[in-house]
Parts: sequence; C-alpha cells; structure tokens
Amino acid sequence: MPQQHPHVIVVADSGALARAAAERMLARLHRSNGRLAVCLTGGSAPQRLYELLAAGPYRNAISWEHIYWFWGDDRFVPHNDPRSNFGMARRLLLDRVPAPSGNICPIPTGVENVEEAARLYEAELHRFYGAAQLLPGRPLFDVVLMGLGPDGHTASLFPGHAELDEKARWVVGVPQAGHEPFVPRVTLTFPTLASTREMLFLVSGPSKREIVSQVLAGADLPAARAYSEGELLWLVDREAAPEHGDVAPATPSPASREG
Ligand code: 6PG
Repeated sequence: MPQQHPHVIVVADSGALARAAAERMLARLHRSNGRLAVCLTGGSAPQRLYELLAAGPYRNAISWEHIYWFWGDDRFVPHNDPRSNFGMARRLLLDRVPAPSGNICPIPTGVENVEEAARLYEAELHRFYGAAQLLPGRPLFDVVLMGLGPDGHTASLFPGHAELDEKARWVVGVPQAGHEPFVPRVTLTFPTLASTREMLFLVSGPSKREIVSQVLAGADLPAARAYSEGELLWLVDREAAPEHGDVAPATPSPASREG
C-alpha cells in the first residue's frame, strides 16, 4: 500500500482555506504551459473555493481556455440533481466563468449503470491522456482536489470496499455507497488520482477533527492511502486540525499581490 506523508498546512477558518487552495491552484496552473487538467471533488469543503475562483481577481488570473475539468467522483444521479458533484461545480464555478464547454468533462450519469459510466469515463481519460497506461513522470492531472469524509473516505473510495485495492482500472463503479447520500457512485481509483503534479486535500470543520488525527497518524483509512506522484498537501482549518497548531499566515490574493 503506498503511504506518503503529506505536507499539512493549518489555516484559520474555512474562508482562509478557500483562499489558500485558490492560491495553490493558481500558482500550479501558472507554472505549466499549454493544456492543463484539474480534477474536482464534491462535498461541502470545496464550495467556497469554487465561488472564489469564479469571482474577481481569481477569475481574471485564470486562463480558462487552457484548463480541462474532470471529477474524481460523482453520485450516479442526473447532472441537475442537487446531489450531483458536477452540478455543484457547474453552479458555483463553471457556469460563471468563460470555460469552453468542450473543456468540461463530467462523469456521465445518463447511462444504464455505474459500470457503463465508469467504462465511458475511463475511455475519455485515456483519450485525453493519449494512452491507456499511466506513465511515471507524465501526470494525467495538474491539480487533484480531494475531500475527507467523517468515516475516512475520500472521492468515493469507502472503508472496507474492494475498490480501494483496484490497480488496473482508472475508473470504477461503486454500486453501494458507504456514506450518505446512499446513491451508487463512480470514482477514479487511487493510481489515477495519484497521477498528478499536486494533490490538495481540503478539510474543514470540527466534525472532521477526530478523523483527521486518525488519518494523519497513519490509520488504515482510504484517505491515508491517497498518494500523489507530485506534491501531497493537506489544507486543514483550525477547527478540523487535531491540535491548535501554528496557523499559516494569510495568503495574499492575486489582486493584493498586483497592488
Ligand atoms: C462525495 C465526495 C466525497 C467528499 C467527502 C467530504 O461525492 O461525497 O467527493 O469524497 O469529498 O465526503 O465531504 P464534505 O466536504 O461534505 O465533508
């Protein structure tokens, strides 16, 4: 099982978490030229980040036409269902910015079942990558965002589920979710999520404190198995942090840097 020690940054609150994540994403995206790929996550923690990226200085600092948007997992519901991870990102971010529609690549959910959805999304990722084997040193993604569930799940990789050990498939169907909402899921597997220049976990709120300490102590939980070919960073707000540690200084926004 790959285990990688993450770099953990504790920030003051959920607003600071969103700003820190936006700054990291921007810095990463500005480091590369040409086509870029970002893999988004669902849940509550990224919502402020998506709103921030869609507004003011961040919106203007992003070259939308170069970025392709993918999802690490989704619930097998129609895209306009309030539980859809794609729907949430579209509402808070992608509908509000000049992202070309051809750059937006959601997990298909209008097909017969999660296996078919996984097969189609895997084929789409193969096409985007230009190969059906992930190569070390040639990451699929530039940035992968991840969340942490209260049971230690991440993406739709749940404790005790067989999908945790999947090495060959890039995307799998999860007929039974291990956590609410209890709808079938489609998820990228660990090796696929790991094929990135940077993986950013976003964790916020007091309900996450206990599970964060377990994961960071190396408990055998899905989120502890997540790894990255590039950097692995956990952004945690003070309420979710195991102890009151030092808080990182506030990150300046692109606007304040320019000024
Ligand atoms: C999903 C997510 C999932 C999420 C965590 C954390 O579809 O449910 O992708 O992995 O990131 O459950 O969610 P919260 O931020 O809401 O706690």
